[in-house]
Amino acid sequence: MTYPHIIAHRGMSSLAPENTMAAFAACIDYGVKSFEFDVDIIGDGSLICIHDDSLDRTTTGKGGYYNLDYSAIRKLDAGKWFSDTYTFERIPELASVIELMNKSQLDANLEIKPCQGGHVLREKLIQHIAVALRELDPQRRLVISSFDPELLWMAAKAMPERNFAALTETNHDEPLLEQVQMWLDIAATFPETGATLQAMHVDNEGLTAEAVKMMKDAGYKVRVWTVNDPARAAELAEWGVDAIFTDKAQDFPESDRAVSG
Ligand code: G3P
Ligand code: MG
Repeated sequence: MTYPHIIAHRGMSSLAPENTMAAFAACIDYGVKSFEFDVDIIGDGSLICIHDDSLDRTTTGKGGYYNLDYSAIRKLDAGKWFSDTYTFERIPELASVIELMNKSQLDANLEIKPCQGGHVLREKLIQHIAVALRELDPQRRLVISSFDPELLWMAAKAMPERNFAALTETNHDEPLLEQVQMWLDIAATFPETGATLQAMHVDNEGLTAEAVKMMKDAGYKVRVWTVNDPARAAELAEWGVDAIFTDKAQDFPESDRAVSG
């Protein structure tokens, strides 16, 4: 069976709590070369790894975090919700992830969350990511994506030397191919930033071979989120999909895990 390359979604998120150092470090144990993680900013300008815009689901905290500083965030438990084994996990800062990538030769997709903290915090989010990434070993492969086109374009202008991917969500009430054409039209304006848009990161639900072909023909790599079923992954590989984001990287062959997605 042929599969696309494997990217551990939010780290090894079915084995350890998502977006924690434990989930990222588990990639090393399972021979997974690349992982995806989510980044947002908090009140004191610290960059944190978290998926939701609220602390409720994955930590012992409550509510939003745009008014908090890291001294408050670091007190929260980000592992207990997953299992008692991970009681001491914390919400990591981006700097810790960069350090792990450098030390362990892991590659990654940094997804910038659609920050709702206001204009000033959104500007800071991009500036602070650019500064933090100066510490990344140039040998490491990093792709930056966001569902928020404004943030992606801002990031591209701030870091034109980096690789970017358009992250899209399918509206299941509208024709898919029309949406793909719209994504491609928007993507075609990306070179104005001076940066390279290398890939489209697209929704697995409702994705078709024709839609994949349109994006491949336009010259983009296609990576698909979130695929946990190996049979579906094999079908996507036949269509030419380059990589999948999966919560279950451990279920795929070592050879597909060992290559950057
Ligand atoms: O970046 C791929 C995937 O993570 C996008 O969806 O909601 O899991 O961040 P989400
Ligand atoms: Mg994500």
